[in-house]
Amino acid sequence: MVETMRAVEINRFAERQHHWHSPVMADVVTRFLIRPTTDVIVDCTVGTAGHALEMLNKASEKSILIGIDMDESALAIASARLRQYGDRVVLKRGNFARLSQLLGPYSGKVGAVLIDCGISKLQIVTSDRGFSFDREGRLDMRFDTGAGMTAEDVLNSISFRKLKELLSSFGEARAVAVARAILKRRDSGRLATTLDLASAVKAVVKRQQAKSLARVFLAIRAYVNHELENLKQAVDSLKDVLNRGGRACIITYHSAEDAIVKTAFRKYSGRCVCPPGTLVCNCGRVEVFRLLTRKPLTPSADEIATNPSARSAKVRVVEKM
Ligand SMILES: C[S@@+](CC[C@H](N)C(=O)[O-])C[C@H]1O[C@@H](n2cnc3c(N)ncnc32)[C@H](O)[C@@H]1O
Repeated sequence: MVETMRAVEINRFAERQHHWHSPVMADVVTRFLIRPTTDVIVDCTVGTAGHALEMLNKASEKSILIGIDMDESALAIASARLRQYGDRVVLKRGNFARLSQLLGPYSGKVGAVLIDCGISKLQIVTSDRGFSFDREGRLDMRFDTGAGMTAEDVLNSISFRKLKELLSSFGEARAVAVARAILKRRDSGRLATTLDLASAVKAVVKRQQAKSLARVFLAIRAYVNHELENLKQAVDSLKDVLNRGGRACIITYHSAEDAIVKTAFRKYSGRCVCPPGTLVCNCGRVEVFRLLTRKPLTPSADEIATNPSARSAKVRVVEKM
């Protein structure tokens, strides 16, 4: 009852603000994943149910969808939006890094898996979640607001060296100066909100500020939520979760995510992914997948024009043999 009330409230809020997340490359996702025989569909990042609705609209009436997310508010909206599908939909709060355990008896019997990395529009526009560099809010940035360290906790304890490495690994060319500015701000006791963090970055980055701000916020968010580690674990578990002929589709939004998917898909389709120069292959390659996309698919110019947040999307798909 409480959950239903909360869903109704969030629903009204989001509808007023037109805050539904537009599902990225939904035509590609449904074309690859949903076939007449697809019976168990797993949406590992159900969010506010954009892709889930598209997939259920196309799937057979005998199919079921298991929707997973770490974010309680997103699940409340998904629950309201998917109500029309009754007991064909099961929603679970959890981390897709533990996909096999979350699926219980369905593990090994799944016909379609979707992972849509990143954050939803609902999370960006909800200022107090702390994901946006131009909306004032607490520095939280957790997908699961009930667990783990917030961005503020992380920034209050991280070393200069670790912060510099983190920013640099997400492509920030001025990582040294930005890390120094952030820690200077912390030491002066004024690093509690998104705008505090943004102003520390702006103090040392004078050109292309928006790009640096996006990179810094992305790097910290990914660190707070262990995003790369979770993705790696989920991708490694796909071979156990899918049934024979089952397909997995992964949408990534930056090169560190795409590299994880590309490497794992190559390794599980029998190709060696050892570093160049390795004399004896030891990468553990096995041939369990067929690559359905040799190169990643990207959104059309039309989609990017109507939904700019799709611009960096890359989609890779495999089928279990
Ligand atoms: C890009 S949004 C998904 C949007 C969704 N496909 C739609 O069309 O509405 C990504 C979602 O994944 C969730 N998420 C991120 N990492 C997760 C993880 N490790 N386990 C479960 N959910 C996760 C986020 O909370 C967010 O709601």
